[in-house]
Amino acid sequence: MAFQCLAHQQGEVATAKAAAATGAGMILSTMSTKSIEEVAAGTNNSLRWFQLYIHKDKGLTRALVERAFAAGYKALCLTVDAPLLGQRERDKRNEFVLPTGLHLANLTSMSGLDIPHEQGESGLFAYFAQQLNPAVTWQDLEWLQSLSPLPLVVKGILRGDDAVNAVKCGTKAIIVSNHGGRQLDSAIASIEALPDVVAAVNNQAEVLVDGGIRRGIDILKAIAYGANAVLIGRPILWGLALNGEAGVAHVIELLRAEFDLAMALSGCTSIKDIDSSLLRYKNS
Ligand SMILES: Cc1cc2nc3c(=O)[nH]c(=O)nc-3n(C[C@H](O)[C@H](O)[C@H](O)COP(=O)(O)O)c2cc1C
Repeated sequence: MAFQCLAHQQGEVATAKAAAATGAGMILSTMSTKSIEEVAAGTNNSLRWFQLYIHKDKGLTRALVERAFAAGYKALCLTVDAPLLGQRERDKRNEFVLPTGLHLANLTSMSGLDIPHEQGESGLFAYFAQQLNPAVTWQDLEWLQSLSPLPLVVKGILRGDDAVNAVKCGTKAIIVSNHGGRQLDSAIASIEALPDVVAAVNNQAEVLVDGGIRRGIDILKAIAYGANAVLIGRPILWGLALNGEAGVAHVIELLRAEFDLAMALSGCTSIKDIDSSLLRYKNS
């Protein structure tokens, strides 16, 4: 998630430290308010991936990938559900812009790019329209993989056929996601899309899911539907806003404890025991 210094002054560094301390992974946004290198320096050897938005400026995109690789991030997570930003009316009404002192940490120092102030418009919407490539194709995935040895993860898939295309292009993992419902109103819920994607991918790649994971029981259900792992969005920001690194760690531990209890009460002693039989009511 972008702009984490809006929630806490340590922003993405606090989130990454909490993830490292609790044995969770962390995906750093292209639009973070702490840089690729600052986050890496705070969390040696922890599992970090870098989320990429492909900019119109190919050189800039290449530089982001090279920096992520050099700083020890272990995968590139390409978000494909945001060729343009969705209609976020409150951001538009508020003329969203980063407050004084906060910047696009990965971009401002390298290229001078920042969220513009646009009258009557969200600065983030304007940034997407002005700077990001709205016409990414499967061919771009091949180009992306030529930039570094990092494995590619594609985030924002909701259909089996798209997942199959991504896998054909060499993607190692799919993130089933509707961007937390923040892009297209009426988009299918990611948990509903998950079974089709799992079936289509047919063990050729890992399948992860995000969106609405709020309790341990949600993790159990996602795994029962075939996910290899889940990702957590907004609850992390709530913990961060409340108590920084400790708040994020607390959220992760709560989810883990609830998941553990849900497994025990479902008769599952290992992750392998969690399967779709838990989801069906059998009357015979
Ligand atoms: C404040 C905020 C910022 C986000 N920024 C990004 C981003 O920069 N890149 C991205 O791929 N997804 C972004 N997302 C989407 C999340 O990565 C994730 O898909 C979604 O929040 C998961 O749903 P959940 O919040 O219900 O757990 C953002 C979400 C929020 C709430």
